[in-house]
Amino acid sequence: MTLLVFDSGIGGLSVLREARMLMHDHPFVYVGDDAGFPYGDWEGAALTRRIVGLFDTLIERFDPKLAIVACNTASTLIMPALRKRFDIPFIGIVPAIKPAAERTASGLITVLATPGTVKRRYTLDLIDRFASHRQVNLVGATRLARLAEEHMQGHAIDIEILREEISPCFVESGGKRTDIVTLGCTHYPFLVNEMRKIAPWPVDWLDPAEAVARQALRELSRTDGTVVPENDKRIDARQQDIAIMTSPSPSAAVTRLLGGLGLQLTDMPFPSLTDSGFVVP
Ligand code: DGL
Repeated sequence: MTLLVFDSGIGGLSVLREARMLMHDHPFVYVGDDAGFPYGDWEGAALTRRIVGLFDTLIERFDPKLAIVACNTASTLIMPALRKRFDIPFIGIVPAIKPAAERTASGLITVLATPGTVKRRYTLDLIDRFASHRQVNLVGATRLARLAEEHMQGHAIDIEILREEISPCFVESGGKRTDIVTLGCTHYPFLVNEMRKIAPWPVDWLDPAEAVARQALRELSRTDGTVVPENDKRIDARQQDIAIMTSPSPSAAVTRLLGGLGLQLTDMPFPSLTDSGFVVP
């Protein structure tokens, strides 16, 4: 039974990695809407129309058992629309605000995400519900997702840009300092080693990818009795995992990256997109 993992680009591979470890007896389809990247700048209603249009085609073609929306910018917006329209379970990823609020010792936490995610009602509600007793610093980074995409494709990181983007994460107040930064974008785990090196002081960088994969596994177990696999031999017999990018010609570096992860890049037309990659009005 196919499982689908969706993101605006290749950042969702940080979630695919965890999902494959837990559910490796299922074939995966990874979908990167690189023609729409970056989602952080999109207006909400237009982004919802775009993603629902893409899922119309994807669900028709693959009939997945479950879909993971491996993108905070999308998950904080479109889960109700997807659940209303399609009859499969959808698992989303949102900033790990509750665990950060529980674990912080200093009481100062930062949510590092795209400009779209930090302004969403959903994110603000999470803070009200779980972190109102903490000091929460919201940082909307405009260049980090692109930096991560470039880094993943083998380009050197511009450390000065990285430093500028993450420096607002570090707050000192009343003799205390930020001790947790939650990675509210699935692209950021690919930059975390470099972030660690240039951070002004050590913090915990929280990545909810594994928790999301566990939630997907729980949902599968609930619907079809899938259990946590241990040394499962069926991995050898499994179907080829594939990747679909929405832009007409993904770069050689992306093709190499996906191939290296065992994903076969596959062409697929999306009727809801024009040639330029935008939604047909
Ligand atoms: N990977 C996406 C997220 O988790 C967003 C990157 C973007 O398209 O701006 O929010």
